[in-house]
Amino acid sequence: MADGVDRFRRFLCDLTKLCDAGADEGDIREHGGASLRALIAADDWLPPEFGEPDPKSYRQYLLYCDPLERFSVVSFVWGPGQRTPVHDHTVWGLIGMLRGAEISRNYAAEPCGRLAQAGEERLVPGMVTAVSPLIGDIHQVENALCDRPSISIHAYGANIGAVARHVFVPQSGETKPFVSGYSNRMLPNLWDRSAAMRAHLGI
Ligand code: FE2
Repeated sequence: MADGVDRFRRFLCDLTKLCDAGADEGDIREHGGASLRALIAADDWLPPEFGEPDPKSYRQYLLYCDPLERFSVVSFVWGPGQRTPVHDHTVWGLIGMLRGAEISRNYAAEPCGRLAQAGEERLVPGMVTAVSPLIGDIHQVENALCDRPSISIHAYGANIGAVARHVFVPQSGETKPFVSGYSNRMLPNLWDRSAAMRAHLGI
């Protein structure tokens, strides 16, 4: 567990440094995406309570939010067969598959206002993808597995749970306002490094 949490802290440091350096979205997708890939290379760090599915709906657990709200990191947990509505994000997002599999159906607006499906992606553990208004921001996501939960780790360029977003009815183009919120009230403790320090001191 300690090594995994080290990797998660490193990922948070990488995103913080990118934001501090004023990195543009392309840099964040490239370097933040590589860092996310390193994070999800092993499924040994997510505390179990932040990977717990709910029988009624998918869960979005906040794992970390930058104090300046320049980015946030969540675990997205799907029960068997669960899916999101068609939705947007309005900010950059990086999505890394940790466990199971999910399907993302991308949509693009047509001149008449309706949404047309524009590709489909199946994510399996180790894969990273991105969304944003610059590269395509509207999709619907579902658990690709009907017999067990799936989990992906997402980073977004804002405090995503409080962002004013939209859900869509693709056939009519109807749009509704949407603020996702979070499924948890408490955050994981990522900073208890006392065991490593005791080991270092031999006490
Ligand atoms: Fe999404």
